[in-house]
Amino acid sequence: MADHFTDMNIFLTGFMGSGKSTFGRKLAKQLGLRFYDLDKMVEEKAKCSVEDIFKYLGEDTFRQMESECLHTFEGQENFVLSCGGGTPCYFDNMEFIMEQGLCIYLEMDEASLFNRLVHAKSVRPTIKGFTEEELKLFIKDTLAKRREIYERAHLVVPALSLKPAELKELVESYREA
Ligand code: S3P
Repeated sequence: MADHFTDMNIFLTGFMGSGKSTFGRKLAKQLGLRFYDLDKMVEEKAKCSVEDIFKYLGEDTFRQMESECLHTFEGQENFVLSCGGGTPCYFDNMEFIMEQGLCIYLEMDEASLFNRLVHAKSVRPTIKGFTEEELKLFIKDTLAKRREIYERAHLVVPALSLKPAELKELVESYREA
C-alpha cells in the first residue's frame, strides 16, 4: 500500500474532547493529505473566536457558518477535515459528509470525555461555567442525542487508547476492502 493516498477525503467526527484535531493533523501528515479544522475555518470567516461567535452572534449563527464552511469542501479532494463536535447533527451536514468522503467517528465513553473536558471547560462555549455535575449531565444528554448520528459514520473507532498509526492502518484497511 502506498503511503500517500490520492482521491481521499476524510472527515473526523465525534464529541468534543475526543481528539479530532490532534488525530486529524497526524493522520493528514501520515497520509500526505491537507489538514483543515472546521472550527478554525469558522473563526477565520467570522474573524473572531468560536467562543465570541456563540456569545455575540448566538449558536444559530455559528451553526449556519459551520455548515457553510463545511459545504466549501464539495468536490474537493485529498484532505482530512476535523469537524466540530456538533457538525454532523445540524442541517444536512451528515449526509453531505457521508457523500463527500470517508466519515470516521472517534468514539469515547462519557467518563473519559468528562475527564478530558473538565480541564477544558473554560474555553468551550457550550460547557462554559458548568459545575462538574452539570458537565456530566451535559455529556450524558448530548451524547444520547448525538450518538445515533455519529454512529452512521463509515468507520466507528474507539478513540481512548488509539494510536495515530492504528488510525492510519484502519483507514488503509477500509480503503483496501
Ligand atoms: C461544539 C464543539 C466544538 C465547537 C463548538 C460547538 C459542540 O468543537 O464546534 O464549541 O456543539 O459539540 P470541538 O468538538 O472541536 O471542541
